[in-house]
Amino acid sequence: MDSYDIKDISLAKAGSERIEWAEKDMPVLRKIRQRFEKTKPLQGLIIGACLHVTTETANLAITLKKGGAKLFLCASNPLSTQDDVAASLVKHHKISVFAIKGEDNKIYYSHINRVIDAKPDITMDDGADLVSTIHTKRKNCLKNIIGGTEETTTGVIRLKAMAKDHELKYPIIAVNDAMTKHFFDNRYGTGQSTIDGIVRATNRLIAGSTFVMAGYGWCGRGIANKARGSGANVIVTEVDPVKALEAKLDGFRVMKMIDAAKQADFVCTSTGDINVVDKQHFKVMKNECILCNSGHFNVEINIEALENLAKSKKELKNFVSEYNLGNKRIYLLAGGRLINLSAAEGHPACVMDMSFANQALSAEYLVENASNLEPDVFTISEKIDKEIASIKLDEMGVEIDKLTKEQKKYLESWSLGT
Ligand code: ADE
Repeated sequence: MDSYDIKDISLAKAGSERIEWAEKDMPVLRKIRQRFEKTKPLQGLIIGACLHVTTETANLAITLKKGGAKLFLCASNPLSTQDDVAASLVKHHKISVFAIKGEDNKIYYSHINRVIDAKPDITMDDGADLVSTIHTKRKNCLKNIIGGTEETTTGVIRLKAMAKDHELKYPIIAVNDAMTKHFFDNRYGTGQSTIDGIVRATNRLIAGSTFVMAGYGWCGRGIANKARGSGANVIVTEVDPVKALEAKLDGFRVMKMIDAAKQADFVCTSTGDINVVDKQHFKVMKNECILCNSGHFNVEINIEALENLAKSKKELKNFVSEYNLGNKRIYLLAGGRLINLSAAEGHPACVMDMSFANQALSAEYLVENASNLEPDVFTISEKIDKEIASIKLDEMGVEIDKLTKEQKKYLESWSLGT
C-alpha cells in the first residue's frame, strides 16, 4: 500500500472496534455505502481529505473507498486525531493516513503536503487548510482538481473570502450549509461534545456554575443550551444584535464580555474570530476561571496575552494548563484548541451520520456536475438535504404526514386568501 504516518499500528484492533461502534449509529451513511458498493460512482478518483481523524470520519473514508475512490487522509487539527482509528484505517482498510494526535504545526502541514503529493481529483476539507495550502504553496496541483467539499463554518467563511477575491480556482460544495448538517451537527453535536470535553478534562461540576458562552451561532446555541441543561447559569456574549436578541429571548443573560468575564466559572468561545477573550478580560476574571474554545481555530482566546500576563505556567494534568497571574490562577483547556475533539471524541456518530452523508453525496455530485460549475462556493441542493432527512427519520422509525393534493395546490397558488 501507499505510505502513511501514524502513531502506532498496533492500536488498530481497538480502533476497528470503535469504528464499528460508531457505524451502528450511522444508518444514512450505511445506506449510501451499500449503494456506492454496487454503483462505484467514485471509481478511479483520488480524494485528498483533511478531516478530524475520528471513528465517524473512518466510516466516511470506508464509504468513499467502497465507492471506488482512493483516499489520502490527514488531520484537520493537530489535537483531534484518534490514533487507534488512524491505525485501523491503515491496517484494515489500506487507506493512507497522515495524522498523529499532538503533532506540532510543522508536522501538521507536512501531513497536509503528503496528501497533496497524492495529486487529488477532489479535496475534502474541514477548516480550509488543505485548500489554502494548495492555492498558496502547491498551485501546480490545481490542474488535477475537479472540485472540493468543505465541512465547517470557518472553512466556508475562508472559501467565500477567497471566491470574493477571485482566488478560488475550483468549485467547492459547502457541506456545512446543508440544513441536515448545521442544524444537527453544529447545534446538538458541538453542544454535547463540548460539555463532554470540558467535563472529561476538568471533572468540574457544571451545575450551579456561571458559564459564559461567547458566540450564539449554531454551535454557541447548542453549547449554551447543553450548559443550561446541565444546571449552569449561562451568560451569552455576541456582536450580532439579532443573535444577541435571540439569546435574550431564549432566556439567557446577554452582556459584554468584560462584564461576563468578572462572573465566569467557565468561558467557552465559538465565534470564529480572534481574541474574543483578551488581556482586559483575563485581568477581571475570578480566581480559577476555566477557559476553553470550541471554534475551529485556536485563535479565539488570546493565549499570547495570557502567557505575557502570567508569572508562571504549568501543565496541571492532561488538557489543563494553569496560568499563575500572581493574584489568581486561570486554567486553559487543550491549549485553546477545539475542546470537544481534543479532550473528548467529537460529535456523536448520530449527527456525523448526516454530515458525512452530505460529504459522500457531494463527492458523487461533483463527479457528475463539476465540469458545469464555476470556481465558487455552492450549497447542497434542497433535494439532497430532504433525502438525507427522510432516510434519517425512516431509520429512527418516525413517520410524518404528506401534503394532500389540495394542500399542495393551496401552497402553490397566490390568489386564495381568507
Ligand atoms: N467534527 C466534529 N466532530 C467530529 C467527529 N466526530 N468526526 C469528524 N469530524 C468532527
